[in-house]
Amino acid sequence: MTTRKAEESKRLALIVLYCAVLSGASGGASGGASGGASGGASGAAGVEAGNVLAVFPHFGYSHFKVALPILNELSRRGHHLTVISYVQNPEAPQLANYEQLLLSSATEDQSSTTINVVPLSEHTPTRSLKVLLQEYYDLYGNGQISCELLYASGHVETVLERHKQKPYDLLLTEYFSTDCQLSLAKLLELPIIGLSTCALMPYYYDRIDLPDTPAYVLSEFVGFKQPLSWSERLLNFAQAKLLKLIYRLHTNRADNALIKRHLNLDIDVDAVARNQTAFILGNQHYSHMGSRPRTQQFLEVGGVHITHESQKQLTPKIVQFLQQSKHGIIFISWGSMVRASSIDDDKLTAIIHVLQQLPFNVIWKWEAEEQPKPQLDASKFLFVKWAPQLALLCQPQVRLFWAHAGLLGLTEALHCGKPLLMTPIYGDQFLNAFAAQDRGVGIKLDYQQINVDTLQQSLQELSKPSYAERALKLSQVFNQRERSPLETAIWSVEHVLQHGQLAVELIRSPGIELNWFVYHSLDSLAVILAALLLLLVSCRALAMPKSQAPPKPQRKSRKARRSNT
Ligand SMILES: *[C@@H]1O[C@H](CO)[C@@H](O)[C@H](O)[C@H]1NC(C)=O
Repeated sequence: MTTRKAEESKRLALIVLYCAVLSGASGGASGGASGGASGGASGAAGVEAGNVLAVFPHFGYSHFKVALPILNELSRRGHHLTVISYVQNPEAPQLANYEQLLLSSATEDQSSTTINVVPLSEHTPTRSLKVLLQEYYDLYGNGQISCELLYASGHVETVLERHKQKPYDLLLTEYFSTDCQLSLAKLLELPIIGLSTCALMPYYYDRIDLPDTPAYVLSEFVGFKQPLSWSERLLNFAQAKLLKLIYRLHTNRADNALIKRHLNLDIDVDAVARNQTAFILGNQHYSHMGSRPRTQQFLEVGGVHITHESQKQLTPKIVQFLQQSKHGIIFISWGSMVRASSIDDDKLTAIIHVLQQLPFNVIWKWEAEEQPKPQLDASKFLFVKWAPQLALLCQPQVRLFWAHAGLLGLTEALHCGKPLLMTPIYGDQFLNAFAAQDRGVGIKLDYQQINVDTLQQSLQELSKPSYAERALKLSQVFNQRERSPLETAIWSVEHVLQHGQLAVELIRSPGIELNWFVYHSLDSLAVILAALLLLLVSCRALAMPKSQAPPKPQRKSRKARRSNT
């Protein structure tokens, strides 16, 4: 009895402490994942300042957002950086030794090119092989556009020139939809660190000898509830193998051709990646994505974007709204890429109808000028064009986060310990949503399923205390790391800066050089099988005379009988 009480009060104290830490977000005093390497940002202790080349051609803001804290921290620690990117780094002008080479025009309004680009009408609700291949093809197209921009920008020549004066030590880049940037790693003989800003694409597993294990490891393209049914396993297996093949034969061939066209260089980017990749940093963590076999070259940095700086002050309007929300708040945000205001009218009406009956107030990220319904009660609904999502999610008043299951938002909810209602729209969001649902911190409600009944049922289910309790417990596991995600990322970069080619040589898996026959020990199996067969045959041969002896007279006698007739 007393021990249970003691445990209970210990848990309560932990929760209180946790909430105090979270609500002190503006003070930046939170621990765990958000502690970041900035805690020890006193400079690259024991590591000489390096010269880092970072190449991030993809246009999505949510992708570059994962790289930003790493780049900024490297600069703060005294390393030199040349960063080729499409998305601007708002802190670049204040950072020492940080050269920003943009692929976009410096005057471009990035709020219309890097965010709010996906209308809800284009959602892909099911995960069939056809949809996956379509998504692969779209990514391929985007990747090649980014590549053309990269090579047309003149920055490649700039970087090659810079290297002559002050050699680069490392290529930090995104592993997402193309490898055309790896020509730089080849030409400058640089070790590579690849950052995967979403769950790692299945076609990158091989380059660091990461097992794909399609019986239960879901790749970025697939989203299913665990455990998988037989047909789902078949699809997962097929896509894992097929996408690897297509990526090699289609995307990488296009990358090689593009490099040949622009630099007149004959290379195979896949061979470069295998030979020169030191680490892949994956924006994921097992507490959300599930446990999986991994190699030493794969480092989990899920939550790396959660830094003190990102816990921005809430706007006065939001602070006031929080104060007047005595019964808690539901926060709705479908991310930076999805245009919430493109929602179908019947669904919007249903959502508002249900929300109006709840005791909770609602903060809704709504990027259009006009509110969805002008007659709504302003004391219950607050529409904001942009929300300091992380700071808001960590507020104790926020009871539920209705998300589109983008990885960054889910990670933030995980960090803050908030239950989730998830409406995945495209890409990895299905995978992310199922992963969170499987871990008991939320439930998925598909976009096309949204109506008054389904929404009421979902909210009813989520009102059970088990979801909030589980979310809080998971957040404690997520936040208690051996090393913060940012520290892990910084360590990997500084490790390679310090040890260069030797670091790659030692960490690179010997497995990637083996052919598939040897890799799967089929040669050994073949020998064992052959030996067993030989044994079996010789045993039978030895046993043969005994067992064959009796039929002989029988046959003879039959023959004899026949000859008799
Ligand atoms: C691997 O990379 C190193 C360093 O860039 C290079 O010297 C070596 O030739 C490469 N090996 C292959 C097989 O490409």
